[in-house]
Amino acid sequence: MTEIVVKRDASEVAREAADLFVSLAKEAAESRGRFSISLAGGSTPKALYRLLSGPEFKDQVDWSKIVFFFGDERNVPPNAEESNFRMAKESLFEPLRRKDLNVFRWTTESGEPAEIASQYESVMVREVGELPIFDLILLGLGPDAHTASLFPFSPALQETTRFAVENWVEKFNAFRLTMTLTVFNAARNVVFLVAGDDKKDALRIVLEGDRDLQAFPAQAVSPKDGRLIWLLDEAAAADLLG
Ligand code: 6PG
Repeated sequence: MTEIVVKRDASEVAREAADLFVSLAKEAAESRGRFSISLAGGSTPKALYRLLSGPEFKDQVDWSKIVFFFGDERNVPPNAEESNFRMAKESLFEPLRRKDLNVFRWTTESGEPAEIASQYESVMVREVGELPIFDLILLGLGPDAHTASLFPFSPALQETTRFAVENWVEKFNAFRLTMTLTVFNAARNVVFLVAGDDKKDALRIVLEGDRDLQAFPAQAVSPKDGRLIWLLDEAAAADLLG
């Protein structure tokens, strides 16, 4: 089931996402004793993470019941400028000032990309399950219709058994680290956070264009039994017909 929610601007998208986060966290903690979430990287989610760690939301969540993972990571040290972990640490984890956060990052300092990916997969299986079914996967959308680090025509798009892989990205001439579609499509809830007019072309193609999962990887995110929510601002949604 795909839901499209359009909000006035990026801050309203963040607020809507924060409300959803709180309600899903409560429901998961009550029914399963824990809330497993995979965070999105990039810049769009920063507003959400800052809101969640701020005075309006931080006391609405039982943070000790959450296990935090990352949908993807750059192949850089955890304190590097472009690290997704560093972005979440600075906008969410540190401002919460708590010692009981369960954060599982890609250990990018621990060796070659393939080794990092296989270690991360073992942690996902240990902490979330044999088939890791996340309560919530947050994703962004790139202007080239990539999501997480599933880039157009990249090898990870063909992966059907592994949960976490190294993915060679031609245009960066570098490896990225990413969860696979197997994980995204097993989740209970997948929420895309998309804001800004630089995303409107990609969004129109992904939601209303011809299907081409290699060219437009975000089209391949379709949770089998879960909810798929596109949380958009008006600028990104400007060219949608539906
Ligand atoms: C990353 C993200 C990536 C991101 C999109 C959108 O590691 O960069 O996983 O998929 O979500 O590129 O990025 P912005 O939110 O910065 O536009």
